[in-house]
Amino acid sequence: MNSICRFMMILSLVFATGCGETKKEEKKDGFQYEQAAEKTETTSEKSQNEVIITGNDMMQYSTKEIRVKAGEPVTLTLKHIGKLDVKVMGHNWVLLKQGVDLVGFASKASAAVNNDYIPEGTEDVIVHTKMLGGGQSETITFDAPAPGTYQFLCSFPGHFAQMQGTFIVE
Ligand code: CO
Repeated sequence: MNSICRFMMILSLVFATGCGETKKEEKKDGFQYEQAAEKTETTSEKSQNEVIITGNDMMQYSTKEIRVKAGEPVTLTLKHIGKLDVKVMGHNWVLLKQGVDLVGFASKASAAVNNDYIPEGTEDVIVHTKMLGGGQSETITFDAPAPGTYQFLCSFPGHFAQMQGTFIVE
């Protein structure tokens, strides 16, 4: 093997490694997410209104408090980082209007089996993600509601007790 050939091999190795870090990973179920995004989510260039929240197989969200700036769109990504199926350990992210009783809402939601556990025609919800199973992810974008404190929850039956938190618009 001559030296030019060896150089080309090294070059292609470096190139392949570089690509591997940023390529999109195609999941079996068709969901995609940017691997690089996980590494950069704590950098300062990230807007306050870009929120990433995870849910796991222990029925837990990664955060109990989310703060966003008023008057700007919010981009929220929910990632289910567990392995369990959506029917066993489903997670969604539901933002309630102010004044809605969380326990009352969760009770109605748990009966909405055929509507992704969101009560049909409800006026209690500002925005929500789909119900996700292990390995799935969804990003939603919405306008930040008026300044104030709101509540969020997972509306899968029985999850709200652990999976709830405060959404603060300031
Ligand atoms: Co859940």
